Amino acid sequence: MVASKAEIRSFDDFREYSLWYLRDVGLTVPEILGNEFKIVLAKPKDDEIEFGDFAGQKRFRGPEDFPDGEWNGRSYIEILANLANIQGDTEFGSNEQQVGLWESAPSDYDRKILLSVINEEFRHGWQMGFFETDVIRTEEAFTAAQSLLERRSGSGEDARLLGAFNNPIKDWIGMYSFLEFMDRDGGSQLTLLARSAVMDLTRSMLFMLREEAKHLRSGEQGFERMIRGGKLPIELLQKYVNLFAPLGYDLHGGERSTNALIYYKLGLKGFYPSPGRESYLERPAREAFDRQLFEDLAHRELNNRDHGYKFVDLNLNGPTQDINKELLNGITVTFYKRALESHFQKFNDLIKQHHPTGTPELVLPSIRFHRDRPSIYAGECYDIHGKPIESQAVYERYIADNLPSENDQARLQEVFAEPDWIAPPEMDVYKTPTKVQSTDEVLYQTVFGDRRSTRYTFNLSTAAEKREQEARKSKATKSSGDEGQAFWAFMDSETD
Ligand SMILES: [Fe+2]
Ligand SMILES: [Fe+2]
Repeated sequence: MVASKAEIRSFDDFREYSLWYLRDVGLTVPEILGNEFKIVLAKPKDDEIEFGDFAGQKRFRGPEDFPDGEWNGRSYIEILANLANIQGDTEFGSNEQQVGLWESAPSDYDRKILLSVINEEFRHGWQMGFFETDVIRTEEAFTAAQSLLERRSGSGEDARLLGAFNNPIKDWIGMYSFLEFMDRDGGSQLTLLARSAVMDLTRSMLFMLREEAKHLRSGEQGFERMIRGGKLPIELLQKYVNLFAPLGYDLHGGERSTNALIYYKLGLKGFYPSPGRESYLERPAREAFDRQLFEDLAHRELNNRDHGYKFVDLNLNGPTQDINKELLNGITVTFYKRALESHFQKFNDLIKQHHPTGTPELVLPSIRFHRDRPSIYAGECYDIHGKPIESQAVYERYIADNLPSENDQARLQEVFAEPDWIAPPEMDVYKTPTKVQSTDEVLYQTVFGDRRSTRYTFNLSTAAEKREQEARKSKATKSSGDEGQAFWAFMDSETD
């Protein structure tokens, strides 16, 4: 059960409660309980808000600096608390999806990757809990922080907030697919928030990004190793790609989104930073979008009578910086997809070297394929190349044939039984720990160890609910007494 009113009032409480969390979800191996957790706040290059309505002002330090006003009915602080809540939810959610995979780790190296990722995601969850309990500090933020530790991946009413964080990861192809596709969306979000208008959010993101880079590298390397192993049929790997790539696209949000505009105006998420020295913002908008996505946006804008309000006023004909800011997610997802495109070129070179001639190439699915709400493509039928499929029935068959199935599971068990189905790494991504720099501020350094006790030994919300029930019961007994009194008083007055 998730908090409706928080008992957690500080980051100290949150830290204590997170030990209960680790035990409750089974993250109790020595590599986790013996790991040092901490809050790290890094130093941004400058102190100016870079974009949006408050551009040029100093970054906001806390609630006293937040601008007044409402955006879609919500205040600045509410929008911020929600953002931290969603980010934190994915961090803890992914831990729950990966719990226990260490038992099936193909090698010590894979086990090390997994446990490093879990430790760092847990720390990222801390970082968001810290932001909520120490920076935002509203009643909603305390409740949200407590709920971060009470929601559970895949668990009905108390499930994690985003669908992609509610499917358990069952095997190591899933693990590396998760790192390559889902964590990479995390990387997109962190990259945007690292330039936010709120100082401690930006400072949190900068160190998180240093760690996140290793998760992404591990995912990419996992694919290289699975291909170099030469044993995993590429058509099976393709099915995992077909499942995970669209989930990764979906995590970026709708290609046209009012939230994107609000985040932009508030200085929270802007244009994706140019990777090189040359800015893409002055270049034609066409270049800032995935080719198919741009074609579809432009086509739908021309025919917006058929396609509705979402495709009006896109402003795609000038330079990128002038586009309708509701399209910013479309640009972020394009950068995400382009990074994957370059990986897939490398993967296909490896397939040529390590698999028999004639093995089909690995295809990165089109941005149109198998999308869900709030994508503009939700409900539309395309194949992985982005070619329309005419009937729903044909599409459903296509999906069944091209996503991982029960039968594939049986075939995979045979692959996993071969000890070297995944090749050893060419380099150790986790050779050195992520460096804390002298300009970083480090707080709450903690090693729980396996003997440390915590004052929280159960779900606080469940406990609060029980207490309330008891209070209601005793009130009921008491108030029935009250009624009795009133009854006698009434009788008395009658007799009078
Ligand atoms: Fe993370
Ligand atoms: Fe990550």
